[in-house]
Amino acid sequence: MKYNVLLLGSGGREHALAWGIAKSSKLDKLFIAPGNPGTAKSGENVALDISDFDKVWEFIQRHDIHLTVVGPEQPLVDGLADFLEEKCHAVFGPKQQAAMLEGSKEFAKDFMKRHDIPTAAYKVFSQNEFDKAAEYIIEKNKYPVVLKADGLAGGKGVLIPESEQETLKAFEELKDGSLSGAASRLVVEEFMEGEEVSVFAICDGDSFKVIGNAQDHKRIGEGDTGLNTGGMGAYSPAPIGAKELLESVEEEIIKPTIDGMKAEGNPYQGILYVGLMITSDGPKVVEYNCRFGDPECQVIIPAMKSDLLDVIISCTEGRLSETSIELDNQYRCTVVLASGGYPQGYEKGKEITGLENIDAGMVFHAGTKTDGNKLLTNGGRVLNVVGEGQSLQSAILDAYNQVHKIGFENMYYRNDIGAKGLKRLA
Ligand code: AMP
Ligand code: GLY
Repeated sequence: MKYNVLLLGSGGREHALAWGIAKSSKLDKLFIAPGNPGTAKSGENVALDISDFDKVWEFIQRHDIHLTVVGPEQPLVDGLADFLEEKCHAVFGPKQQAAMLEGSKEFAKDFMKRHDIPTAAYKVFSQNEFDKAAEYIIEKNKYPVVLKADGLAGGKGVLIPESEQETLKAFEELKDGSLSGAASRLVVEEFMEGEEVSVFAICDGDSFKVIGNAQDHKRIGEGDTGLNTGGMGAYSPAPIGAKELLESVEEEIIKPTIDGMKAEGNPYQGILYVGLMITSDGPKVVEYNCRFGDPECQVIIPAMKSDLLDVIISCTEGRLSETSIELDNQYRCTVVLASGGYPQGYEKGKEITGLENIDAGMVFHAGTKTDGNKLLTNGGRVLNVVGEGQSLQSAILDAYNQVHKIGFENMYYRNDIGAKGLKRLA
């Protein structure tokens, strides 16, 4: 059977997924909603409001879609998978209760506690207990300390005060609502010292397979300085993720997560993104996400030698354990080309030049739009340039060689993507 597939989302992650799915021998037609000019090369973009579940369902029926693949977290946390599965439609992505691993920090922390999954010690406070929370922190006098808004906050829900004064300032911010509605409950967490790495597992509710690991670069500035962003670049595999370490992550973190979700009646199907801190006590969970990382997806999907659509279908049909997944052993590095000013104010509509000069490597679109024959910037993160090679160093070189061929007004990127990995290898 050949599949008609609907992929939801519009970023670089979705371009990488569309590119991967489009190569499948099982694909008939691929639609991407709403997509971007990059995804339009792999399938047909459709203007569809993906937060309107009825509209999504109408489209699925009208176009005889067999499978929906969900890129971003919001529709999953809002229950899109439940809504479509009730209509007997196959969806790749967890149902609402399983997506709570990302949707609620409190749920995730309590879940890890119930299942003995290593993570930072924590305490939860409700909105009318903020004074009590501040008192608790000041009394403990252990800095830095981590404050997390409970709900989805688009990466902006974490404050890390380093002193009593900064704690009081953080609570002022929390009280005046700058962390949006997400802060109705607050998780106060012990600060973990170490290096971060993300591990990605594909899951069918019962079993899972690790499909890669990557290190993201969340801060806007080189040397991990400045404001937090959605991610300025990533590389894979990360040298910090040595074989023994990854085996212990599978055994002590991913397996109990999948088994625990199943035992609690919320089998986890889809991509499980486990954000880890490698501490002197071993790996501990910083966060779970219920979808691929962006830009981490852009360095993981190209490594998959198996038919991506086939693997996804095996998850929606609960047959992952019978499916073999083959990955290549190349290194990859992606550099995010951003609009100057991001993650704060920036201008859009700048003409992008040079893409026709890209030979090796790949470029995934994130915030772009077309205007006649022109390609214009249309977001903070604009393009993700991917380099590959036999070594991390050659992957990084390949990526920057491509970057130097592309231009737009006020283009900004970090020059040190992958540097941490190289340092570890040295
Ligand atoms: P999260 O939204 O939970 O991923 O947190 C965002 C970022 O804050 C993480 O990527 C870490 O860099 C940092 N962070 C979160 N929790 C902790 C923690 N307990 N200890 C140290 N850093 C943390
Ligand atoms: N790159 C971080 C994330 O996707 O959450």
